[in-house]
Amino acid sequence: MNGAGRFITFEGIDGSGKSTQARHLDGRLREEGYDTLLTREPGGSPGAEEIRALVLEGDPDRWSAETEILLFTAARRDHLERTIWPALEAGKVVICDRFVDSTRMYQGLSRGDLRAQVDALHELMIGTEADLTLLFDMDPGLGHQRAKARATAEERFEDFGEGLQAQMRQGFLALAEEFSERFRVVDAGREIDAVAEDVARIVLEHLR
Ligand code: ADP
Ligand code: TYD
Repeated sequence: MNGAGRFITFEGIDGSGKSTQARHLDGRLREEGYDTLLTREPGGSPGAEEIRALVLEGDPDRWSAETEILLFTAARRDHLERTIWPALEAGKVVICDRFVDSTRMYQGLSRGDLRAQVDALHELMIGTEADLTLLFDMDPGLGHQRAKARATAEERFEDFGEGLQAQMRQGFLALAEEFSERFRVVDAGREIDAVAEDVARIVLEHLR
């Protein structure tokens, strides 16, 4: 349990529609009378947004995977202290676009097996897990296309290429089995409204 509130995280490859669906869900929950907080990682607090620019911009080889674990975890700690924990204490439903499962995948898998280091640092410095995690599962080629079409400066991970996306998809599906109690897998390769209906049904069921 996370205070009086509920902590819901969205995970999946780049371009799988997480941000779009997070906004839809936030609107829907407000209509249903829930007090919500919509946030994202890396970022979600002023300090963590500064770290976001460090990790998402620049050359793919700018940081080693080990250094990234430290940077993403530092950003997460600040985000929790200043944004997430106070909202959960206040009884809100927190919707967070990416959380530690992204670190378990992107830093834990992409450049060798660092999963044990990610989990150890998480236990030591973070501790909090989501109550419910939605995995937006889709074809990695399509996700990569959608993500590249956005054309922002935040392309460091997209520049690792489509191969990384395919590896992340398989990794996320395996993680959903490992943590089957809190994960629900959503087919994200459909129309926005169809995906949003599934998401609302799963989350409202969970909240009731
Ligand atoms: P993510 O946060 O997972 O990277 P976004 O929500 O930013 O994904 O979506 C990536 C791009 O794809 C955006 O341009 C968005 O408008 C578009 N998009 C999102 N969901 C769908 C969908 N179901 N069908 C087609 N395009 C979509
Ligand atoms: P995000 O802005 O969610 O990208 P997208 O909308 O394309 O899904 O996240 C940017 C990148 O940061 C994404 O490629 C995944 C990466 N990332 C990590 O590598 N580790 C992490 O712990 C987090 C939260 C994100």
